[in-house]
Amino acid sequence: MHRAWSVGNFALLEIKIMKTMQTIAIIGASGNMGSAISKSLSKGNYRLLLCAREQDKVQAVVEEIRSSNPAAAVEAIDCSVEASWEADIIIVAVPYEAEKEVAQKIREVSNQKIVISISNPLNSSYNGLVTAPDTSAAEELQKSLPNAKVVKAFNTTFAADFSTPVIDGRQADAFVAGNEEDALRTVSELVSTAGFNPLLAGDLSVSRTLENMQLLLIQLNMKYNYNWLAGWKILHQ
Ligand SMILES: NC(=O)c1ccc[n+]([C@@H]2O[C@H](COP(=O)([O-])OP(=O)(O)OC[C@H]3O[C@@H](n4cnc5c(N)ncnc54)[C@H](OP(=O)(O)O)[C@@H]3O)[C@@H](O)[C@H]2O)c1
Repeated sequence: MHRAWSVGNFALLEIKIMKTMQTIAIIGASGNMGSAISKSLSKGNYRLLLCAREQDKVQAVVEEIRSSNPAAAVEAIDCSVEASWEADIIIVAVPYEAEKEVAQKIREVSNQKIVISISNPLNSSYNGLVTAPDTSAAEELQKSLPNAKVVKAFNTTFAADFSTPVIDGRQADAFVAGNEEDALRTVSELVSTAGFNPLLAGDLSVSRTLENMQLLLIQLNMKYNYNWLAGWKILHQ
């Protein structure tokens, strides 16, 4: 009897774990940011579906993750549409210029899902943004995916920061902005799993400021040679 209860409880626990494990599609997973995000999230309770156009590069990221964490639930998947269809959360880790094309592909399969915009729409000389002052990359993505819950996150963290999110003894902040409470909560948890301090910054229009903040950080990085290991920290009492 006791044994039957234990087995039953085990089964229940297993079902609960399966239910709470969210699936995340990372589009652009072979890039600087996509691979850094994939590696850090593979330590959390997530199932990761990695994709990009060149499949062999994605497979190399999967193998690197598996070699350091054999228990990681991570796989390479050939198509961003299929990955996004399976996912609860979609991270668009491609250059800004590629976002419209990606959005067109995943439009139907991203309905009511959280889509994370990490991009900074920098111009080619890194002295300005290509977006108009009354919009942002995140808001443009939301326009292309009207039925998704777009959340801005990870745009103010450099790819190199993911291996050491504690910089000069302080945990770097990662600003999160969006219009939906539940989506903000979910993305904040994901940011914590990646090792950063999530800071709710406001609605999606705050992305205009966040994208300009990263433009400044890039300019400072080049001026003072931070070696791409730099981040934002709001000091407060
Ligand atoms: N690097 C940073 O430190 C940093 C920091 C904050 C935010 N960001 C933002 O993160 C995004 C990615 O930057 P990154 O430095 O990681 O760029 P990256 O190294 O050039 O990687 C771009 C990734 O996107 C994929 N890709 C490109 N075009 C695509 C398309 N049309 N469809 C599907 N996948 C495509 C690439 O693989 P394939 O070519 O094989 O498809 C690659 O996996 C950018 O929006 C950037 O502003 C970067």
